[in-house]
Amino acid sequence: MSSLKNDRLLRALLRQPVDVTPVWVMRQAGRYLPEYRARRQRAGDFMSLCKNPDAACAVTLQPLERFNLDAAILFSDILTIPDAMGLGLYFEEGEGPRFQKTVASIKDIENLPIVNTAVDLPYVLDAIRLIRRELNGAVPLIGFSGSPWTLATYMIEGGSSKDFARIKTMLYSQPDVLDILLEKLTASVTDYLNAQIAAGAQAVQIFDTWGGVLSNAAYHQFSLKYMAQVVDGLITESEGREVPVILFTKGGGGWLESIAGSGCHGIGLDWSQDIGEARERVGDQVALQGNMDPAILRAPMSTIEAEVDTILSRYGQGVGHVFNLGHGITPDIEVAQVAGLVDAVHELSAKFH
Ligand code: CP3
Repeated sequence: MSSLKNDRLLRALLRQPVDVTPVWVMRQAGRYLPEYRARRQRAGDFMSLCKNPDAACAVTLQPLERFNLDAAILFSDILTIPDAMGLGLYFEEGEGPRFQKTVASIKDIENLPIVNTAVDLPYVLDAIRLIRRELNGAVPLIGFSGSPWTLATYMIEGGSSKDFARIKTMLYSQPDVLDILLEKLTASVTDYLNAQIAAGAQAVQIFDTWGGVLSNAAYHQFSLKYMAQVVDGLITESEGREVPVILFTKGGGGWLESIAGSGCHGIGLDWSQDIGEARERVGDQVALQGNMDPAILRAPMSTIEAEVDTILSRYGQGVGHVFNLGHGITPDIEVAQVAGLVDAVHELSAKFH
């Protein structure tokens, strides 16, 4: 068992005291890094990068070589699950994800297998084991999955969508059919995250990127309910430590109280919420992660520092904050701005602990 040299992330998620606020960045390994673009070019395409454990490990570590980040996040994608279910994921340059097959009928759904991670996604587990070896206890490794609802949107829409017309049609005209798909995805996501934890992931995040497009009632019935089932099915301890779970529903600011009741340890906040108000709403039930608007990284360093200070001040004194962006970093961001952000969080947060 390797002990962690920097366990701020795990401590903050469990609402234990830390010296400074931990920080990591959604999509911290990605196209804004020139060394990422070079690696991807060599690999040929994004999925080849994901499926090669050596390459996935190298790319995971790239941002840690540059910045004082408090966590690594596995380099992979949420759409590995539908790919492993046989839908044939591919990326069209500049157009985002696409599937060779989509899911349209009850028959399609009945034919989908539940993912057995060890057999269907061994490359993800191999990457995790390699990353842990290379990290050698420097910082914790975060594993992740898409939420059942968010994965279902990609499977039914066949890729990214603006109006979610197909899945909403199914939701309102054949809810029982959608439930069968979401149940299969819940079993698959649970297996996937437990396999990641067993392979060495020390915290996990569930990305519910599209939960926010739902009505209040539909969010609870079709997204949160299944995420709560996943949380309930997860391994709670590994290597003698509790494994914290973060739920990130983009656009979920209206539902913080019910998300906090799901059994998760941390809630990922997008930038639309005031983190101080969010803290008042959830009390001491969960930690909060976030929530700077990624667009602020295009501003001068003085603006970034001022915003970091505002977010830290709004959160206030004490335990339970993990600094992050409110959504993924975009490819146009300058590397120097990210370095400045990470250092600013550490420098400006000491006074709150
Ligand atoms: O955060 C990290 O650094 C870990 C890696 C990671 C990726 N995707 C790498 C990636 C993580 C955690 C994800 C999650 C993911 N993937 C989500 C949830 C998070 C979110 O952004 O809301 C979603 C919705 C996806 C699906 C997905 N993958 C889309 C829509 C796209 C194309 C959009 C884009 O940014 O181009 C991807 C591709 C993808 N996943 C890239 C990266 C670095 C870009 C691929 C490339 O061209 O190199």
